[in-house]
Amino acid sequence: MAAAVVRHDGEILSSVVQGQEDVHRAYGGVVPELASRDHVRTISRVVERALGEAGVEPGSLGGIAVTAEPGLMGSLLVGLSFAKVHHLVGHLVSAELSDSELVPPYLGLVVSGGHTALYRIEAGVAPCCLGETRDDAVGEAFDKVAVLLGLPYPGGPAISKAAESGDERAEDFPRPMANRGLDFSFSGLKTAVALAVERRGALGEDERADLAASFEAAAVDVLVTKARRALEDEGLGRLAVVGGVAANQRLRARLAQAGRHGRFHVSFPPLALCTDNAAMIAAAGARLLEQGVEHPLSLAAFSRIPIDAAFA
Ligand code: KG4
Ligand code: ZN
Repeated sequence: MAAAVVRHDGEILSSVVQGQEDVHRAYGGVVPELASRDHVRTISRVVERALGEAGVEPGSLGGIAVTAEPGLMGSLLVGLSFAKVHHLVGHLVSAELSDSELVPPYLGLVVSGGHTALYRIEAGVAPCCLGETRDDAVGEAFDKVAVLLGLPYPGGPAISKAAESGDERAEDFPRPMANRGLDFSFSGLKTAVALAVERRGALGEDERADLAASFEAAAVDVLVTKARRALEDEGLGRLAVVGGVAANQRLRARLAQAGRHGRFHVSFPPLALCTDNAAMIAAAGARLLEQGVEHPLSLAAFSRIPIDAAFA
């Protein structure tokens, strides 16, 4: 659950994020019913805190934005009230907010727990999807592999930490679909890790680190390869990486290096704006308001919806 107050020029006045890790930890992943119940419990407190920290009265707000798509239905319905913003547009705006050099046209790489996709971003028009995952999202792969390796939830940060002391060459995991197109696939990589774990039996600390490093290297390799291909195909010189997995240090380092070699500009939001937050939804809402896009109170929520529907 998160709430934020953002000025029209993008300045973040407050950004409150109340995580649910404690609710889901025992299950190794998000339990939808528990997620929506926790949202009901915390929403008013979190919104009040965001208003308080920003020092604004609700009546003085220019507009209210709430993400209504895509995501877990129960959680979306709890948050849904006055306006709607596409969740992934929110992630992309979070990158523009934090980097004045990031101006359209640019390539958007969205890497989260629910999505893995490449978008061409042009000013004033709907983002154009160039490729997306055909099965698991990359964050989902991190979370599932963490369970296989006996690492805690959420899996992304736990795998990164374990990988620090590991050898990425210990296992030569597949780089699914790396050689063709701009779509992604991560379920085969997850299966390869499962087989390696099975083969080794009970994992020692070093083995766990090696497997984490080898998996992380394979996943990052695929993301870097596809992003470079898309930049080249589309003739773009700027790349924004957003979503929870954009917090991954290996991905940040590898893309920064690729950018120096390939002479393209790479932009990552600050860590606090990579994973889900309300500042990005509020900022995207401010932008839509400026463009005259408003929604009636009959607004619905969608658990999956293409990004261009946000511009209809
Ligand atoms: O964007 P986000 O907060 O929520 C969704 O919209 O899905 O992304 C959450 C995902 C989780 O799968 C989590 O494991 C992953 O982002 N994640 C990471 C890291 N931090 C969070 N994955 C890899 N490395 C990280 N440091
Ligand atoms: Zn997200």
